Amino acid sequence: MTPPPPARLVDLVITGGLVVAPETTVPAAIAVDQGRIVAIGQPDALPPARETIDATGLFVLPGAIDVHVHFREPGFSHKETWTSATQAAAVGGVTTVFDMPNTDPPTGSVAALEQKHAIAAAQAIVDFGLYGLIGETNLDQLEAMAQAGAASFKLYMGSENPLVPCPCDGAIVEAFEIMARLGIRCTVHAENTPLLSWRGERLRAAGRTDAAAHLEQHIDLAAVEAVSRTAVFAEWTGAKVHIAHESTRHSLPHIRFAKDRGVDMTVETCPHYLFLSTDDGARLGENFMRVKPPVREPGHAGPLWNALLDGTIDILSTDHAPHLRAEKMRPVIWDCAPGFPGVETSMVLMLAEVSRGCLTLGQYVRMACEAPAKAFGLYPRKGVLAVGADADIVLVDMEKTGRVAADGLHSIGNATPFESFEIRGRPVRTLVRGATVALDGRPVGTPGWGRAVTAPR
Ligand code: DOR
Ligand code: ZN
Repeated sequence: MTPPPPARLVDLVITGGLVVAPETTVPAAIAVDQGRIVAIGQPDALPPARETIDATGLFVLPGAIDVHVHFREPGFSHKETWTSATQAAAVGGVTTVFDMPNTDPPTGSVAALEQKHAIAAAQAIVDFGLYGLIGETNLDQLEAMAQAGAASFKLYMGSENPLVPCPCDGAIVEAFEIMARLGIRCTVHAENTPLLSWRGERLRAAGRTDAAAHLEQHIDLAAVEAVSRTAVFAEWTGAKVHIAHESTRHSLPHIRFAKDRGVDMTVETCPHYLFLSTDDGARLGENFMRVKPPVREPGHAGPLWNALLDGTIDILSTDHAPHLRAEKMRPVIWDCAPGFPGVETSMVLMLAEVSRGCLTLGQYVRMACEAPAKAFGLYPRKGVLAVGADADIVLVDMEKTGRVAADGLHSIGNATPFESFEIRGRPVRTLVRGATVALDGRPVGTPGWGRAVTAPR
């Protein structure tokens, strides 16, 4: 009798860890070959490997997918570069990011998309998708941008930024018709621009320069109206939509109504809306708090958490929006750069909540990995640990403790609002398609390893 042929060597086996999925956490080993998961099961049932990672005592999660980041290049490399940003992502357990189009030039043409792709592909150590911009003047180019590999499109329904102005409703409906035909989910910054402009002008004319004026400008109504208008337009055109950075509890009934009547709408919220309120202005500086949409008064975070846990809000993203601290701390509120870095701190903040018993690791995997992959067409290639999936894997040590500190973050614009927040649980190793890109809090990936998730169609 001839002995069986020796099993083929695979690249890597990760043994000893607890593999987390939304509904299950089970001890299992994972075999990886050529960047993909080729087997999951008992270690003795797996093929021999060139390399073994011992994950004893660790949890094994799919890499997080952050569908809302601003990585700033081209145009604003003093705030962030694709190198610094993807290093921050890798250390933070994020293996795929979707980058927003409000760069300079904005990502509103095939040429701009190709320019950004070249920048990202040269530097990234995690995988990425690039948003195309929906504007009034480029509707005839959306399809070509999709064919050139735009992963999704961004509609600035609430914008005072001349680089990315809000299209009129006529153009929005036409854009949604195009999105429906292409079958691409469109992400919406859902605030009402005329309302923001009117109130902004009135507040400025009244001489207001204080931080409270930012909230008086961006009243909850601006978000509520835009969420419901997005739902009606999506319902009418058949477009798939995604509501970015939900900030207010007042939107939640409107989101539920839209979903109940079958609108294909997904929704995200971000850590700053879950962990902060206007009360944090005293600690951080009132002007530092500026973000669009705003962090609101106490009383919103609880309902947003409940909505995230019950699935009304599908996705945890970050709206990673780095600026220099000096840009955020100007004396006049209208001059303060809005937004915070988030891609490196999101997972640790949520793991601390897991340690406190506020959610399970499975729930975290659902909102940070599975749901974004499903919403944006990456599932089951990403967002899940299963045979055939990309080996985008994060090893988490729930015993690691510490505190968030801005000067330990990898972003250039590292002005985190979560300074000193307690850490209980950290990603200790991040793999993208089988290659380790972060180890023990240090980025170790090779620039250029990160790949676009949507090849030209
Ligand atoms: O606060 C924000 N910052 N909101 C946005 O919509 C854009 C972002 C940025 O790019 O800085
Ligand atoms: Zn954003």
